[in-house]
Amino acid sequence: MNSLRVIAIALCYVVVVFGVLPFSSDAQLSPSFYSKTCPNVSSIVREVVRNVSKTDPRMLASLIRLHFHDCFVQGCDASILLNKTDTIVTEQDAFPNINSLRGLDVVNQIKTAVEKACPNTVSCADILALAAELSSTLAQGPDWKVPLGRRDSLTANQSLANQNLPAPFNSLDQLKAAFAIQGLNTTDLVALSGAHTIGRSHCSLFVSRLYNFSNTGNPDPTLNTTYLQQLRNICPNGGPGTPLANFDPTTPDKFDKNYYSNLQLKKGLLQSDQELFSTSGADTISIVNKFSADQKAFYESFAAAMIKMGNIGVLTGNKGEIRKQCNFINSKSVELGLANVAETDSSEEGMVSSI
Ligand code: HEM
Ligand SMILES: *[C@@H]1O[C@H](CO)[C@@H](O)[C@H](O)[C@H]1NC(C)=O
Ligand SMILES: *[C@@H]1O[C@H](CO)[C@@H](O)[C@H](O)[C@H]1NC(C)=O
Ligand SMILES: *[C@@H]1O[C@H](CO)[C@@H](O)[C@H](O)[C@H]1NC(C)=O
Ligand SMILES: *[C@@H]1O[C@H](CO)[C@@H](O)[C@H](O)[C@H]1NC(C)=O
Ligand SMILES: *[C@@H]1O[C@H](CO)[C@@H](O)[C@H](O)[C@H]1NC(C)=O
Ligand SMILES: *[C@@H]1O[C@H](CO)[C@@H](O)[C@H](O)[C@H]1NC(C)=O
Ligand SMILES: *[C@@H]1O[C@H](CO)[C@@H](O)[C@H](O)[C@H]1NC(C)=O
Repeated sequence: MNSLRVIAIALCYVVVVFGVLPFSSDAQLSPSFYSKTCPNVSSIVREVVRNVSKTDPRMLASLIRLHFHDCFVQGCDASILLNKTDTIVTEQDAFPNINSLRGLDVVNQIKTAVEKACPNTVSCADILALAAELSSTLAQGPDWKVPLGRRDSLTANQSLANQNLPAPFNSLDQLKAAFAIQGLNTTDLVALSGAHTIGRSHCSLFVSRLYNFSNTGNPDPTLNTTYLQQLRNICPNGGPGTPLANFDPTTPDKFDKNYYSNLQLKKGLLQSDQELFSTSGADTISIVNKFSADQKAFYESFAAAMIKMGNIGVLTGNKGEIRKQCNFINSKSVELGLANVAETDSSEEGMVSSI
């Protein structure tokens, strides 16, 4: 028998088998997931993000961080967006998030705009992934094709958020371990940390480096003395923890490779930043040097690592749901009367199609 024919028949068989199993458990994300059901979703997200960033450029940083903090806790499932209710212990109140998350209202604005164009179609988890990519490009950083098709969780896990999200005073080994359990390697850690080329941090998260590092009574020896003075002016000893410092003192809102040249000059803002370059003998040093010398290499690694991060623990197929309101699971939205207007306005037709 003609062997090409055998292969052709085998291929048809594969297509048929996969065709009847659209909800198979290893369903993959795809950039074209909404090409039929919501072809314009990316432009809609982009327009809202662009509008907001005109008056609040920091929002681009905040939206990238929101996706990261979502993905590291039970996967990229929009669990971070779930508000406190009688059944949800919100991740928003976990230590790495409380008084620090921004952009929750912007995500709701995006969701409203997307629901208007394509009701009950696009997940909040995909909105977070799209907003992160569009934020990178709007901050003049890299772009990538965002794999889509995530669904939204029915649960959140505050204790897991406390456990999984890295802390600014973690050692390099702890940072590597926190990324490794998510399937992210050392290159991913160094590339993703480069998101700290934009955005701000509160004084409270690095002030101990300025005055009493590890209870030594001295500043962190890996901190540039010129930069130390600048940071002390922003964060006086014994002052409030609330003032903000730019992560990148050179180009605070531009997504460039300066994060890495700052590390080479001992100008990393957080201990967890500087450790990538100042930990003696670490394998991260050569990666910092590479990204500092080659913005294209940084961009490529960042985009690849964002796609990798965006794949963590995703719900696909018939798992989870497409939330109507990103802050609540659908059964709660209905109870609270928050289900979207298109849904409540339409008669039984809409109700039936949503079940
Ligand atoms: C490597 C471990 C990491 C640690 C310890 C860490 C820690 C922090 C801390 C303490 C802040 C300041 C929060 C505040 O003051 O409210 C911050 C902000 C930020 N983080 Fe990270 N981060 C890490 C990795 C990442 C990753 C992987 C990304 C994204 C890919 C990211 C993106 C951001 C951005 C963009 C901001 C600024 C947010 C804003 O200005 O609103 N970080 N991070
Ligand atoms: C897609 O959305 C953008 C931004 O909201 C809008 O300018 C454009 O006209 C839309 N295109 C289509 C085909 O709906
Ligand atoms: C963006 O802003 C423009 C003008 O400020 C407004 O006309 C438009 O509706 C806004 N678009 C979205 C999606 O918010
Ligand atoms: C959800 O919680 C956030 C912050 O905790 C709050 O700003 C927002 O209004 C809440 N959303 C709704 C729809 O209640
Ligand atoms: C949250 O995660 C912890 C692991 O830290 C797990 O033991 C627990 O069962 C989870 N709780 C919920 C409500 O999913
Ligand atoms: C990390 O993984 C990427 C692929 O996902 C690979 O290209 C890179 O070489 C890996 N880096 C290390 C240090 O293993
Ligand atoms: C540094 O912190 C330790 C522990 O909190 C404290 O005992 C010590 O007095 C501090 N040193 C200075 C110089 O503030
Ligand atoms: C500290 O920063 C200055 C520029 O502000 C730079 O010239 C100097 O080389 C840096 N010091 C170290 C040790 O990197």
